[in-house]
Amino acid sequence: MRQILIEPSLLSANFANLERDIKLCEEGGADLLHLDIMDGCFVPNITFGPVVVQSVKKVTRLPLVCHLMIIKPELYIEDFISAGANYISIHCESQFHINRTLQQIRSYGIKAGLALNPGTPLEFAYENAEFCDFILLMSVNPGFGGQSFIPSFLRRCEQLKDFLTKEGLENVLIEVDGGIKASNVREVVAAGADMIVSGSGIFDGDIIQNLKEFKEKIKKI
Ligand code: DX5
Ligand code: ZN
Repeated sequence: MRQILIEPSLLSANFANLERDIKLCEEGGADLLHLDIMDGCFVPNITFGPVVVQSVKKVTRLPLVCHLMIIKPELYIEDFISAGANYISIHCESQFHINRTLQQIRSYGIKAGLALNPGTPLEFAYENAEFCDFILLMSVNPGFGGQSFIPSFLRRCEQLKDFLTKEGLENVLIEVDGGIKASNVREVVAAGADMIVSGSGIFDGDIIQNLKEFKEKIKKI
């Protein structure tokens, strides 16, 4: 059976009580933790860097997925790996040598992902899929939590899934990020997504209850 991974995005957590919220994610059965790294340049928002990733690492057993929304990500890969990242995604729009950076990430023995904004042609994913462990299809324009899901994601996800199947690249997982709630997660999974990121959908309200609802919705797909 297909394994679907639930990945709370700490962007919507309570930063004054991060450890408490992380423990609730563990208790609720989250599979991974998603950390949004924003530089105020690639996206119009600034979050945090490796120091916070390192602190998070100390209080959880969950694997950490660092979503780098920064320009020149290749300069910071080593820092995020030293801080404890288990997965790193880079945006194909943020730098020149996509293939080289993906190989750089993999050379440390962690999982490499390529992220695509909603308006970026899927060809970027096709050309680089064999160098990826996962491909992140954004379902909002990156930069902020709490935005509405862009429906074209569903078509794009189905197309990418078909491509990966035809090419024998079924091991490459599809990650979706932005506007995912318990109310729409089922269609997102049906379209082929394997790694489900959710910020406000998990942290607004009761974290454990929200995670339970997510899991309930994707049972038996
Ligand atoms: C947005 C970030 C997301 C964000 C998602 O740029 O990449 O990870 O936290 O938040 P929601 O799930 O609230 O749309
Ligand atoms: Zn993200």
